[in-house]
Amino acid sequence: MRLAPSSLALLGSISFITTPCLARRKWNDTGRGTIAFEENWGVPEIMGPLAGVSAQLRADILDIHNQRLRRMDENGIDFMILSCATPCIQGISSPSIAASTAKSVNDQLASQISNNTFRFGALAALSMHDPLEAGM
Ligand SMILES: *[C@@H]1O[C@H](CO)[C@@H](O)[C@H](O)[C@H]1NC(C)=O
Ligand SMILES: *[C@@H]1O[C@H](CO)[C@@H](O)[C@H](O)[C@H]1NC(C)=O
Repeated sequence: MRLAPSSLALLGSISFITTPCLARRKWNDTGRGTIAFEENWGVPEIMGPLAGVSAQLRADILDIHNQRLRRMDENGIDFMILSCATPCIQGISSPSIAASTAKSVNDQLASQISNNTFRFGALAALSMHDPLEAGM
């Protein structure tokens, strides 16, 4: 996904308004403004519904720091915002398992990107069985 400069300016404004700390955040801004939103990351515990995917796609979904980063560099992607591959938490019918899996998935994603926030950000996965719990 390529964003027009006006979209980036809007994103920057929204970030600045909602989370002032993001305005001071350092990221790999090469000046070309390419940010990718990837709902294409996962951990083995949520890969069950993706059992039919090829070994290569499975490896690509699990990876962050190897082929994903190499392909980002090859394609001029400065920064990638990762989120859990569909169906992720939405595929879990038990409220308690969905809540605990969301926490586990979010903790793992945060941990995995923590040594390269210059290139990666992330969106949390939420269990919406209990909106109050999801908001906390
Ligand atoms: C910044 O991104 C470019 C690709 O857009 C890449 O070639 C370069 O290696 C990146 N720099 C770092 C420090 O990750
Ligand atoms: C971050 O940690 C992963 C896993 O250990 C490693 O493969 C990667 O090279 C590290 N990235 C940086 C920028 O240190």
